[in-house]
Amino acid sequence: MTITGATAEGLPLNLDVEHRVVRWVSEVAALTTPDAVHWVDGSAEENERLCQLLVAHGTFIHLNEDLRPNSYLARSDPSDVARVEDRTFICSEKEEDAGPTNNWRAPAEMRETLKGLFRGSMRGRTMYVIPFSMGPVGSPIGRLGLEITDSAYVVVNMRIMTRMGSAALDEIIRTGEFVPAVHSVGKPLAPGDKDVAWPCDPDMKYIVHFPESREIWSYGSGYGGNALLGKKCFALRIASAIARDEGWLAEHMLIIKVTSPSGEVKHMAGAFPSACGKTNLAMLEPTLPDWRVETIGDDICWMKFGSDGRLHAINPEAGFFGVAPGTGMLTNANAIRTLYANCIYTNCALTDEGDVWWEGLTKEAPAHLIDWTGQDWTPESGRVAAHANARFTAPAAQDPAISADWEDPAGVAIDAIMLGGRRATTVPLVREGFNWEHGVFLGSIMSSEMTAAAVGTVGKLRFDPFAMVPFCGYNMADYWGHWLQIGQKAGAQLPRIYLVNWFRKDESGRFMWPGYADNSRVIEWIFGRCSGEDDAVETPIGLLPAPGALDTSGVDVTAADLAALFAIDPAAWVAEADAIEEHYARFGSKLPPALIRQLADLKDGFARA
Ligand code: GTP
Ligand code: SPV
Ligand code: MN
Repeated sequence: MTITGATAEGLPLNLDVEHRVVRWVSEVAALTTPDAVHWVDGSAEENERLCQLLVAHGTFIHLNEDLRPNSYLARSDPSDVARVEDRTFICSEKEEDAGPTNNWRAPAEMRETLKGLFRGSMRGRTMYVIPFSMGPVGSPIGRLGLEITDSAYVVVNMRIMTRMGSAALDEIIRTGEFVPAVHSVGKPLAPGDKDVAWPCDPDMKYIVHFPESREIWSYGSGYGGNALLGKKCFALRIASAIARDEGWLAEHMLIIKVTSPSGEVKHMAGAFPSACGKTNLAMLEPTLPDWRVETIGDDICWMKFGSDGRLHAINPEAGFFGVAPGTGMLTNANAIRTLYANCIYTNCALTDEGDVWWEGLTKEAPAHLIDWTGQDWTPESGRVAAHANARFTAPAAQDPAISADWEDPAGVAIDAIMLGGRRATTVPLVREGFNWEHGVFLGSIMSSEMTAAAVGTVGKLRFDPFAMVPFCGYNMADYWGHWLQIGQKAGAQLPRIYLVNWFRKDESGRFMWPGYADNSRVIEWIFGRCSGEDDAVETPIGLLPAPGALDTSGVDVTAADLAALFAIDPAAWVAEADAIEEHYARFGSKLPPALIRQLADLKDGFARA
């Protein structure tokens, strides 16, 4: 076996053979039997070499240097296009610690399964060892990880998505702490076997988490959150379990800095399920004059109490793994500007000029494309050119709206938390929780229509509390308990909590709210509320903007639509309460009594009305 990226002794830096890092890497190599081991240093030269290798293997298409410098397109296997929730496992010692929303397997049994899957799984391939930091290296809120993968595609994506390489390894050696994460595409090569452009195991996928020992094992997929293990696996599933134990929060949230025309600043976080608008909101250009929104993060938020009693948030990531379709100059200009160079595209279409394209990038589609499956495409083809979950991997630093303090290791103090799903009916545009406990109740009853970000039924309505159902590493009822406990902390200065819904439709299926940049109007109302403005009315479901409080000047929305966006239909809410009761029943005796009380209050509110 050859070892590269290391010193002459075969070990990087000052590591000796007894070091935990070395023992663990050796164990994984003994199990997976790669041809070579490469310790990733994160340098530009290494990245260049890996990109060339990926081009040579047919995984990457080098895009036109004049149009998209230093950028590449990959097309996945058609069976490997999104997260696989039914193949994602939480292996806690006790089943009740995984809870009804997770797939549970006994750890010992799963370890046997994994041994079988990973035995020889890297044969014929290079095993890459990726040291990485979630959060700025050395941040008191950040955390370290080590991913082993047999995919060079994963390495070059991880370089954009995390702080990866030598600095992270130094920190791992200094602190002795890291979350071990093993990834294999599950396609070993026998001598003479020809590799494919997108190796994976089309029939067998396992995305496995051990929340107690804080380990990740992922087999069979090369796509997104299944394979870039710093993201959902570590920063949400494992980190949520760590956060519960240590009294902080690891959330599926964007983070923004909002500046009012008078120069007042507030920070907001927002939880929305996959493909429900986080990246768009994080890069928003307000339609309200003289308001400014800047990006801190677009997907994940780690929050810890500071000595001031406030929750301080960092974005643990360094890049955006964003949904491409629907991203255009009209919807998200800052995203388009971010993509000018140095990006990786997956499952987008290829133009004749060697650029990428997707539905929504331009109003009119090019006359000819190569679609995400590698076939000729014209507007008459009658199918999409880019996969609905096609993605860009882009460095966050390239976002023109990135905030100057996005890498502040101390994080930013959060004033408001938004929560929101995709709801065609019933749920109003915005409402405020009466208090922290009611806000947690609103988070616990969030529901949303499913999207193409996960393999499953697009459009199906499901409860997705705090947008964390696919990402909570422990029992969701205990997670609510943890949120309630956060609210009990002595001296806490808690953010206000809001539930929003940009996706309400009329009878003809048209979105009644223009959304995108006009969501700044909702942000302005929230901002004002946080500054003590008294412009809300109490309803059984929360505090709604008082008549006229939401600035809709110049918005393309009729008075009738506006009324409908805030309409509260008692019959629909009685049905909603019944559905919430069923949803809660799944958690049995673990359900916090405070939430049972909140549901009773909701019902009483409508009974009285
Ligand atoms: P993940 O990366 O999967 O976590 O998704 P996300 O939450 O970051 O969602 P994103 O911002 O990428 O948006 C997903 C889809 O929702 C895109 O097709 C957007 O065009 C669409 N979208 C975002 N914001 C709005 C909005 O305000 N209104 C409407 N109607 N659609 C929106
Ligand atoms: C999501 O699905 O919420 C994503 C994409 O952000 S993935 O990284 O694939 O999980
Ligand atoms: Mn996401």
